[in-house]
Amino acid sequence: MTKQLVTLRVNGEPRTIAAEPHHTLLEVLREELGLTGTKHGCELGECGACTVLIDGLPVLACLTLPALVGDAEVTTVEGLAGESLHPLQIAFAEEGAAQCGYCTPGMLMTAKALLDTTARPTRAEIAHAISGNLCRCTGYTAIYEAIEKAALREGGAGAKGQGPLDASADLREIGANSRAGAKLL
Ligand code: FES
Ligand code: FES
Repeated sequence: MTKQLVTLRVNGEPRTIAAEPHHTLLEVLREELGLTGTKHGCELGECGACTVLIDGLPVLACLTLPALVGDAEVTTVEGLAGESLHPLQIAFAEEGAAQCGYCTPGMLMTAKALLDTTARPTRAEIAHAISGNLCRCTGYTAIYEAIEKAALREGGAGAKGQGPLDASADLREIGANSRAGAKLL
């Protein structure tokens, strides 16, 4: 199949790549851009390992076609840290919230979206937010505690967070609005 040129904004940089038109955002990020922090799990929208942020919202990259992203900003776990690690990364390390680490990038991105909109999430709000991110190792308690610790250090803005989107309709809305115009450590 003929590859098509796609331009995405990823972690603040415009990136143009030639990609198979049926390839998902997950495949493009990992195989074309080398951003392997975003994990390849079920490819069915069920595990959350592939979660990235699109314009700040958690989205399942395995169910997303790059063409739907438009010029919305894609943030992967590689874009989470600034000059130092993000408070979530530090708290996950401190609390032992990453064991095998396979769920961790997706978990971090979902948690970031939550903290960006909910300054002090309750345990129930955290559980709701990460309900689409499966972890087979930790039993979740350490993850809840890490997110709570990061929230205490970081704070946030205000409204409710949400789990990863699994519907193209939501993404089309993000793309339309926009077009109008690992690892833990
Ligand atoms: S790889 Fe499992 S939800 Fe995307
Ligand atoms: S730390 Fe292993 S799946 Fe979550």
